[in-house]
Amino acid sequence: MAYQHFLDLSDAGANVIAAMIADAVDRKAARTGFGKGQPDSDAPLAGKVLALVFEKNSTRTRVSFDIAMRQLGGSVLILDSASSQLGRGETIADTARVLSRMVDGIMMRTDDHAKIEEMARHATVPVINGLTDRSHPCQIAADLLTVIEQGKSLPGLEVAWFGDGNNVLHSILEAAGLMKFNVRVATPTGYEPVVEFVDKARAGGATITMTQDVGEAARDADVLVTDTWISMGQEDADEKRAAMQPYQVNAALMAEAKSDAVFLHCLPAHVGEEVSDEVFEGPQSVVFDEAENRIHAQKSVLLWGFGLLS
Ligand code: CP
Ligand code: NVA
Repeated sequence: MAYQHFLDLSDAGANVIAAMIADAVDRKAARTGFGKGQPDSDAPLAGKVLALVFEKNSTRTRVSFDIAMRQLGGSVLILDSASSQLGRGETIADTARVLSRMVDGIMMRTDDHAKIEEMARHATVPVINGLTDRSHPCQIAADLLTVIEQGKSLPGLEVAWFGDGNNVLHSILEAAGLMKFNVRVATPTGYEPVVEFVDKARAGGATITMTQDVGEAARDADVLVTDTWISMGQEDADEKRAAMQPYQVNAALMAEAKSDAVFLHCLPAHVGEEVSDEVFEGPQSVVFDEAENRIHAQKSVLLWGFGLLS
């Protein structure tokens, strides 16, 4: 069976991402009344095992991949770097070759993106990016599904990002170029996204606006999104926190957006920092749909990785 790595959204491309979202909508609907761990009727990954390799903390990614595999009829095993030989310096190349003899796929969460590229280079099973310092494509697959569920369509959608120019924003920009939506990026000086992601989104036809004016970014936006100011592995510096203060998503900012705009956050959230309590708990917040959708979107990512979705 052909397999494919999912290190970034561009590995799949626009047509496959559209097919993944459609498949996720259908599979989610078909599970009405099912227990959370009960397999889908077709159990397409029966007998398959996915290894979840973690070099950073996780709640959603860990649980959603486990439940996604159960729902597809398969199972997972978890390797934390602290308790595996990876944490004692065994190479990624050897780990990739050993895991490829024992399991059918690998999901990896790590720091340096080069490590997951190394894993993919040496693995002979599909490798899925569960977050690196550079990108978080599975999160954005779930975000796109969440936006579609809200009755919005991707082409021409106006997405506004506030705060740190981080891994989650990079994957949003990658999605924008592929799916033809626009992103207004409001970040303080020195915390902009890597320019390559901006250039690529623009080359794909997306309008990307870079600004320090949060009101300009929010005005008539369809989606407002933010993330922690201090990502895993980053220094918790007073200087950075001070620079981020004006970028909080709060009620005043939501009021600038379209009346049916939604608020997204990949979680974990730091309420009172990047988002106010009023917005996080408010009627426009769809953050828990977004969290649940990690399961549904990743099932489609897995099916594509295993060569069962095109
Ligand atoms: N959003 C997300 O990836 O959450 P975890 O860090 O809990 O996996
Ligand atoms: N940007 C955050 C996302 C966590 C899911 C981080 O990398 O820590």
